[in-house]
Amino acid sequence: MTLAIALLLCMFLGMHGFNTQLVIEPQPNFDVEKFAGEWYRIGVADESPFFAMFKDHLKVSKGLLVSDANGNVNLTMWSIRPYGCSISVYSYEKTDVLGEFTYFSKRHKITKDITIVETNYTDYSLVLKYKNMHKEYTQVALYGRSSLQRPELIEKFRSFALSLGFSDEAIVIPADVDPCPILDPSPPYSK
Ligand SMILES: *[C@@H]1O[C@H](CO)[C@@H](O)[C@H](O)[C@H]1NC(C)=O
Ligand SMILES: *[C@@H]1O[C@H](CO)[C@@H](O)[C@H](O)[C@H]1NC(C)=O
Repeated sequence: MTLAIALLLCMFLGMHGFNTQLVIEPQPNFDVEKFAGEWYRIGVADESPFFAMFKDHLKVSKGLLVSDANGNVNLTMWSIRPYGCSISVYSYEKTDVLGEFTYFSKRHKITKDITIVETNYTDYSLVLKYKNMHKEYTQVALYGRSSLQRPELIEKFRSFALSLGFSDEAIVIPADVDPCPILDPSPPYSK
């Protein structure tokens, strides 16, 4: 009987959205210096209609994370556009909690939190944006130190996203690697 109720509850959560019961903690003893450097975003989970519109065109994109002496970070991400490589820079401010940052989302006009949920620094990281679990704002990303999408990493990412209540359709593992930044620009990518 209890099991039946638990199953019903799981189905309810699965169909009706996010698991808001989970308390999400950052990676213990998070070390920002070890975390800095190059990362590839190799998976994204996002339930928003905006993401659904372009998720089929999503590519594995490269990012460079730089930290300063205070522990704040800037993340530069590159992505290919019809006119060339476009650069986005995100500034994340540290909080009192190691592994948690905040930034102002220009798109949503709100301050969002970012949690480095799990990383082993040399290989992968699971990053949660907006932990209050909101269909429009919450996103999980899998980053890798290389663009290789190893099955065990993808599995770790999928099960984490599913445990939060993301649907299968919202979990995207892009097939292609973004060519940006292009070090030696040549047509058709040159400006
Ligand atoms: C991030 O970039 C801004 C603007 O260029 C700069 O003022 C700031 O010092 C940078 N922060 C870090 C952590 O590099
Ligand atoms: C991170 O994970 C990779 C692959 O699982 C492993 O080879 C590496 O030793 C790990 N690094 C640390 C610091 O645990």
